[in-house]
Formats: sequence, C-alpha cells, structure tokens
Amino acid sequence: APGAQEFIPPTADTIDELRAAAAGCRGCELHRDASQTVFGRGDERARVIFVGEQPGDVEDQQGLPFVGPAGRLLRKAVDDAGLDPRHIYLTNAVKHFRFERRGTRRIHQTPDRVHITACRPWLVAEFARLRPEVVVVLGATAAKALLGPTFRVTRQRGELLPWPAAAQHPEDFARVPVDRAGAVADAPDTRLLATIHPSAVLRADNQDVAYEGLVADLKVAAGALR
Ligand code: URA
Ligand code: SF4
Repeated sequence: APGAQEFIPPTADTIDELRAAAAGCRGCELHRDASQTVFGRGDERARVIFVGEQPGDVEDQQGLPFVGPAGRLLRKAVDDAGLDPRHIYLTNAVKHFRFERRGTRRIHQTPDRVHITACRPWLVAEFARLRPEVVVVLGATAAKALLGPTFRVTRQRGELLPWPAAAQHPEDFARVPVDRAGAVADAPDTRLLATIHPSAVLRADNQDVAYEGLVADLKVAAGALR
C-alpha cells in the first residue's frame, strides 16, 4: 500500500480541505471494509489536540471521531481537568475502523504498524495546520504513531514531553512528509503528553481510579498552556 501521503493535496490549507481529500484515501487496505474515513473534528484554533487510536463502530457509522462511550468519557474528563471541551480538537492515529466480522457483529481490531505508518501523514498534516500547544496522546496506538514503538504509556504517562525530533526515531519517522510536516517535526513549541485511552478507563477493574488518573494527567496538559 502506498500510504496516505500521495492523497494529501499540498495546496490543502484548511482542515476542511484535508477532510475532503481524506474521504478518498486509499493509503492502506483499511478503507475497503470500513464505511468511511473518520477525520478529526473540533476547534481549529484549539491549543490542545487529542489523538486516539482509530474510529470505533459508532464513529465508523456516523463519520465522526469520539461520538461513542469513550468520547463521552473523554469530554467529561476534559471538563473535569479544567479544559473547555468546546475548544479542543479530536482525531485518531488511524482514520478507518479496523474490525473483524463475527456473524453480524464487528469486533474492533487494533491497527498494525503498517496502518499506523500509512495513516500518519494525515495526522502530521493536521498538526501542521492546527499548530497546537499540547498534543495529548491517548493510549498505545497513538503513542506508537508519535513517540515510536519503544515508548511505554504506563511508564511515562502524565509527563510533558518535548516534540519528538524526526531524527530520534529514524525508522519510524522516515515516511513523515518533509514539506509542511517538516516544520511540525521541528516544532519546539508543541509538547506531548501521553495518557491512558478513555476506552481503557471504561474497561478498568476500578473505573473511578482509572478516571481520576486520566483527569490528573489532563490537568498537567491544562497547566502547560501558555
Ligand atoms: N476510540 C478512539 O480511539 N477513537 C475514537 O474516535 C473513538 C473511540
Ligand atoms: Fe488512508 Fe488512513 Fe484510511 Fe489507511 S486508514 S486508507 S491510510 S485514511
């Protein structure tokens, strides 16, 4: 598969233009079984953007990220952390739903590295246009996309991290585009913060503790805003 890069019009200056182009992306095989591309949405002047894994079943049907249970929990946590849920932007590392059919049910499958790598140019293109102050990385898939395969969310969650220079993960960032994204790869003003995925909070044995952990991490992100 060619990856998403060739589907990104270099002249697309706005999120709407990117979203329109992403609807026709054939950068990896995932477009074949999913209903539609689920692009990012939210405040285009957001200072904080959230990166999840991939759309879920509900998101795939509605064409919008984080409209299901995980999204509800995330917006509540954002609010509880003192951030305004109206002024955030939500997106995913992979923009098509990956699933397995079992009878009539569609069972979520974690995206593979090939899908993460193929789809990353969209994410980088979003960053280049949004220029956020903080990128909140939700869970392991988004962390793989942005911090490389060796990053462990459990070990480094809640820490403000510098923007990862492309050179630190040459094997992983080799396919990040160098035009507008090049500027983002060197964005010294953007910081990252990794935390637990809201779906993992919903699955946790002790949901209250997991939720408070998420809110505590998001407070660190809120405190980092200038
Ligand atoms: N989980 C995600 O990672 N993203 C969504 O958009 C919904 C659920
Ligand atoms: Fe393109 Fe990403 Fe969808 Fe693959 S998952 S087809 S790279 S938008």
